[in-house]
Amino acid sequence: MNNPTTCHALSWIEAQWKRGKEFLGTSTGILCGAMTWVSHHELVKGVCDAGGFGILAGGSMTPDELSQQIKHLVSSGCGPFGVNLIVFHPSFQELVDVCGQYNVSHIFLGGGLPSSTVFKSLASYGIKPVAFAPSAALARRLILSGAQGLVIEGNEAGGHVGPVATQVLAQEILPVVGKDVPVFVAGGIGNGRGILSYLCMGASGCQLGSRFVCTHESQAHNSFKEAFIRAQARDAVLSYGIDSRLPVIPVRAISNKATENFVILQKSVVKDIEEGTLSLEEGKMKIEQFWSGALYRAVIEGDIEYGSVMAGQSVGMIKSKESCKQVIQTLLKEMVEAFTEIKMTSALSCNT
Ligand SMILES: Cc1cc2nc3c(=O)[nH]c(=O)nc-3n(C[C@H](O)[C@H](O)[C@H](O)COP(=O)(O)O)c2cc1C
Repeated sequence: MNNPTTCHALSWIEAQWKRGKEFLGTSTGILCGAMTWVSHHELVKGVCDAGGFGILAGGSMTPDELSQQIKHLVSSGCGPFGVNLIVFHPSFQELVDVCGQYNVSHIFLGGGLPSSTVFKSLASYGIKPVAFAPSAALARRLILSGAQGLVIEGNEAGGHVGPVATQVLAQEILPVVGKDVPVFVAGGIGNGRGILSYLCMGASGCQLGSRFVCTHESQAHNSFKEAFIRAQARDAVLSYGIDSRLPVIPVRAISNKATENFVILQKSVVKDIEEGTLSLEEGKMKIEQFWSGALYRAVIEGDIEYGSVMAGQSVGMIKSKESCKQVIQTLLKEMVEAFTEIKMTSALSCNT
């Protein structure tokens, strides 16, 4: 039987993420963010069965591949799950049609600001659109355009990231739109204490990525998982662009030869453009394709030296391989412990 402090903690947490849970259709406000090559149906099912919300990484899939993945989830009786799509994907509409055909409940729209046509297309299928908000002004605009939920993802996250830290985004955006739609905070969260802190600030839940990479259900190669377990926060570094004509969205990954090769590739692309053997558009494409190919090499083939080991700064908090259920149970336990500590400390200071 839970003691009164634990009961108090649980009911406080329940009240804070009630809205997020209702929006997602889950029993916790914990989401596992889409991770290209990692977030296939096994991981999504594992997260959903453990009470979280799993998101398929549809960004690099063809419509047929996405359809196969969703079929697995539907036939396994999986609870509500989301699909992450990139708005500039050449087959974007076909991918939305696949989601509509299987009554997918939520689409997480990445890769830039979605147009009103995108929101209309999702609305025609009754799919709830969730968008990524990089500032308070854009969060407001996305809601006016039709976003029913938002993710705010800070610079500490793994994969492609924006320039602003999670804490700053949370302070800036949650007070402005946190009461209008459910807002989920992502980036650098590896522990229940982190989740609790964002619930205190008005989040409806939190999205974690790196923390789920080493689960048994994740299809990442064993070498990829081992690299996560060895890494410290400071090993998850940002890639950078070397020429303003070739804009690079920074990628956070564990430092290795791929980080160096990315700079070498950019230098050779710049040289080819200057010599006229490559157009600027072809150059941009080559740079864009680098990360997707390098991520496959690391996640699926296990080449953690020359492939891209995308990871957030939270990677330092990952100590072992566990099931999705163990991860979510641990996060919940840590949330309750943190709440209890705060409560005991405030009771002590009141008595003195
Ligand atoms: C290996 C890896 C691949 C990722 N791929 C994607 C992706 O395809 N689409 C996306 O929206 N976010 C992607 N992300 C970001 C996650 O969905 C999530 O928001 C992020 O990992 C949260 O930060 P954390 O890693 O500190 O928990 C990726 C992250 C990692 C670690």
